[in-house]
Amino acid sequence: MGKKILVTGATGYIGSHTVVELQQSGYQVIAVDDLSNSTEKIMDLVSKISGRRPFFEKLDLSDEPAIRAFFAEHSDISGVIHFAAFKAVGESVEFPLKYYRNNLFGLINLLNCMQEHHIGHLVFSSSCTVYGEPDKLPVNEKAPVKKALSPYGNTKQISEEIIEDTCGVSDLKAISLRYFNPIGAHESGLIGELPIGVPNNLVPFITQTAIGKRSKLKVFGQDYNTPDGTCIRDYIHVTDLAKAHVVAVKRMLENQGESRYEIFNLGTGKGYSVLETIKAFEKVSKVKLNYEITERRPGDVPKVWADTTYANLKLGWKAEKGLEEMMASAWKWEKNLASGILEQI
Ligand code: UFG
Repeated sequence: MGKKILVTGATGYIGSHTVVELQQSGYQVIAVDDLSNSTEKIMDLVSKISGRRPFFEKLDLSDEPAIRAFFAEHSDISGVIHFAAFKAVGESVEFPLKYYRNNLFGLINLLNCMQEHHIGHLVFSSSCTVYGEPDKLPVNEKAPVKKALSPYGNTKQISEEIIEDTCGVSDLKAISLRYFNPIGAHESGLIGELPIGVPNNLVPFITQTAIGKRSKLKVFGQDYNTPDGTCIRDYIHVTDLAKAHVVAVKRMLENQGESRYEIFNLGTGKGYSVLETIKAFEKVSKVKLNYEITERRPGDVPKVWADTTYANLKLGWKAEKGLEEMMASAWKWEKNLASGILEQI
C-alpha cells in the first residue's frame, strides 16, 4: 500500500478528480468533506473509476473538537492536500465573515493538528485571483500579490501567508498551487463540476444552457481591450490540474523542493476569450448556444493567463489537454447528469 494522503474537500470538483489521480498513482486516500456543497455519492463514482473506494468521513474543519478527534484516529498520514473552502466570489462579498470563518479557521485548525501529529507536507489550493489585474502578461509567480477584489480572494492571500509563516517556524513543507480557470470533467464522464443553484462560472453556465436548464447565457461585456472585446482567461482541464497535485505531493515526500514553501502557477499558458470558448463548445457539441452580450460583471479582470515556465521546469508537469477536449468533457458530464447519473447510484 502506498503512503496515506488526506484530501480535504474531497467530494468537491477539483478534490474528487485529485482523489482519482492519487489512487491511480498508488496512494492511499483518506477523504474528508463537510458536504456543504457536494454529496457523498461522489465517492461511489470515484470508486467506479479507480476500482477502490477511499475511506470517507464527513468533517467540518472549522469544528475544532471534530478535527482533533479525527486526527487522533488517523495520525499515520504522510501528507495533506487541502481543498476544503468556500469559493463563490459574489457570496463572499455578501457574507464575508462566513468566508473568513470557514476558510481561515479550517486552515488554522488543520495546521495545528498537522503540527501536533508531525505531519509535515501540505499542498494548498490557491488561485490566480491573488494577482488581481496583473501588470504584465503572462503572469509568473514573482508578480506582486494585489489587493484582493473579494473576501474570497482575500482568504486565499491570507491562507498563503499563514502557511508561509508556519513553514518558517516549524517542520512544515508546503506548496501553494495557484489555479487559473479549471474546467472540464473526467474523461469517464463519471465526475465533474456540480454547481448548486445558478452557476457563477462560464463553462457550467454554457453546458446548462445547451442542455436546456438555463434559457440564455449572458456574455458579460464586449467592450474590453481584447481582440474580440470579451475577457480572456487561461482555462485548464481539471484532470491536468489534479495531476499537478500528485506531482506536488511527491515532490515534498521525496524531498525535491528547493525551499520549505513553494508556489506554482497552474494553467496552460494560453488565453481564450469568452467568445472563443463558446465557439469551441459549439464545435464539439454541435449545439448552437443561445447567448447575448450584456453589461460587464463588476470585478472581472479583462485578461489573465499564466506563465507556466516555472511549474513546467520544476514540477516536470505540463497541462496536456486543449480547449476543445475540455469543452467536450464538460458536455459529456452535463449530458450524464441530465440522464440521471447521480440518481442511479
Ligand atoms: N462569464 C460570462 N458569463 C457567465 C459567466 C462568466 O460572460 O455567465 C465570463 C466572465 O465575465 C469572465 C469569464 O467568463 O470573463 C470567466 O468567468 P468565470 O466566472 O468562469 O471565472 P473567473 O475568471 O471570473 O473566476 C475564476 C474562479 C474564481 C477565481 C477567479 C480568479 O471561478 O474562483 O477565477 O481570477 F477567484
